[in-house]
Amino acid sequence: MLHVKLLKVKDPAEMGKRAADLFEEMIASKPACVIGLATGSTPLPLYRELIEREKAGRIDFSKVRSANLDEYKGLAPDHPQSYRYFMQENLFNHISIKPENTIVPDGLAEDVQAMCSAYEAQIEEWGGVDLQLLGIGHDGHIGFNEPEETFPGMTHEVELADITRQANKRFFNSIGEVPTAAYTMGIGTVMAARKIIMVITGADKAEILKKSFFGPVTPEVPASILQFHPDVTVIADEAACSLL
Ligand code: F6R
Repeated sequence: MLHVKLLKVKDPAEMGKRAADLFEEMIASKPACVIGLATGSTPLPLYRELIEREKAGRIDFSKVRSANLDEYKGLAPDHPQSYRYFMQENLFNHISIKPENTIVPDGLAEDVQAMCSAYEAQIEEWGGVDLQLLGIGHDGHIGFNEPEETFPGMTHEVELADITRQANKRFFNSIGEVPTAAYTMGIGTVMAARKIIMVITGADKAEILKKSFFGPVTPEVPASILQFHPDVTVIADEAACSLL
């Protein structure tokens, strides 16, 4: 497991608090820091905690810049299942972050290559990601980087694996409505972040947690590459740690 720090917590609520501590610390030491954000169910207790802490005067998001990991191809920002919409509803609308300081890949991009390059360029112009938040898929995906033969580099388009579409269909009316492609930061983009927090909760993630951090580093388990990052904190609840 090399450099990876594993913080074992009781449940999702405690995960939210411990992860929020790391965000609070980062923003206190660098008010205009760049944070990388994820969607999905796992970060929700963290986002609720961040909203509460800004209300309580403990965090100030007014100078923070944020870049999201990914977006579905073909979904407009105001589509209720788009990741932009998710971020507005679950975090951005409730904190003082400035709209122009939040970026999410453009699901409606006509020139995909140009959109992906501009995304990377914006992050670079901001000085790179200081703190990247990650969840993990059952197949070890991070962002939408699915198991492959090689580790993909920068922001790019991906076909979604069946297991991922099945896992995400809970948010749509039917599997047919789940997009078949997405845009995601690459493994290279993620690995360039100076500090990474991965949040993992639930017994259904126990096997992939073990595989990712206690197994070989391989593009067949994309998250395993994090073993080679110098500053990763995994915050996992008891259920997710049950196979360790
Ligand atoms: C979403 C993302 C995905 C999720 C993963 C786990 O922005 O990056 O990799 O983190 O699919 O999703 P949940 O938390 O819903 O189990």
